[in-house]
Order: sequence, then structure tokens, then C-alpha cells
Amino acid sequence: MGASLGPILVAIRGAARPASPFRRRPLALVWGARSQGGAGRSLGVPMPRLVTILNGPNLNLLGRRQPEIYGRETLADVERGCAALAEELGLRIRFLQSNHEGQLIDWIHEAREEAQAIVINPAALTHTSVAILDALHAFEGPVIEVHVSNVHRREGFRHHSYVSLRADGVIAGCGTQGYLLGLRRVATLLAA
Ligand code: DQA
Repeated sequence: MGASLGPILVAIRGAARPASPFRRRPLALVWGARSQGGAGRSLGVPMPRLVTILNGPNLNLLGRRQPEIYGRETLADVERGCAALAEELGLRIRFLQSNHEGQLIDWIHEAREEAQAIVINPAALTHTSVAILDALHAFEGPVIEVHVSNVHRREGFRHHSYVSLRADGVIAGCGTQGYLLGLRRVATLLAA
């Protein structure tokens, strides 16, 4: 029953300030009954915006593989750091990793329905995957691309990124702090 609330609130907010390209669809979902858990339980109370944080192949080994390049922090450490910062920024996160391109694409499709922004480290798929680029093109909110290492100081094949053709921002070479910078950027873009 609360399903009609989203568009109404969007209209009100839309009248109050000029629309930002990143706010159009996300607001409807944030305020809609679907994201409130239904039953009108928290009608009128906005849910924190959801950021999907995606990690590609081999990042499950972060902290253990090539630590001289990627450092000693594990992906679990990164997730904890992101969760703490997200709370501070008034965001929610869904933090995911897969070694499979199709799984990452499915998660990007899910983000279309439930998330307001994506932070993605596509790992090696950065340099090869037109399919991930196409999936990201189908997502309407801000997309920030993150690389732990400075890919531009490495082998030539790492200098090209398909994902950068869609990303609103790219962070590389800042270590795992890049994820936190990505989240901060997303918070700024969603608030604009
Ligand atoms: C990486 C850089 C990629 O070139 C590489 O394939 C990775 C990780 C990074 O975070 O620095 O797996 O995305």
C-alpha cells in the first residue's frame, strides 16, 4: 500500500530544489514501501541510501597475494572500514566479492533495483570486460572505480579500463583507503 509514496515524495523534493541526475530514480526507492520493509512501518522516515561495493577476481586474497603491491589489509578489514565510514556518512553498504564475471553482472543488475550508487574494484576484469561496462551503463546512479594499486605505474595492459568509460570517478594507487575515498565521493554526489 505504501508503494505509491515514493513518487509523491519525489515530486515534493523535486519541486524544492533542481533535480540532480543522480537523485531521480534512487529517491523513489529509498522512500518506497519496498525498501521500508513494507506494512508502512516507517512511513515518512527515509532509509539510508544503499551503496553496493563490488570486488572482482582474486580480491578475496587481498592481504595475502602480492602484499608488496596490494598491502596486508584483508578484504574483511576493508569491509569493516567501509561499514564504519558508511554509518558516519549516513549510508548503508552491501559489500560483495566474486571471482566470476557473471555474478558481478548479476549484482550490478540487482543494484539497479536497490542501490543508489556503486563503488567497484573490478580487478583484472577492469581491463577486459565489456560486459561489466554494459551492465554499469544500465545503472543510473554514481559509479566510482577503485584500484588498490596504481595501475598506471604497472604493466601496459593495466593502463586501459573499460569501466572508466562509465565511472564518474576513478581512484587508483591509494591502497585500501581508495574504498573509503570512493564512499566519501559517493556521499557527496548523492547529496548534490
Ligand atoms: C586491481 C588492479 C588490477 O589490475 C588487478 O588485476 C587486480 C587489482 C587493484 O586493486 O589494484 O586484481 O584492481
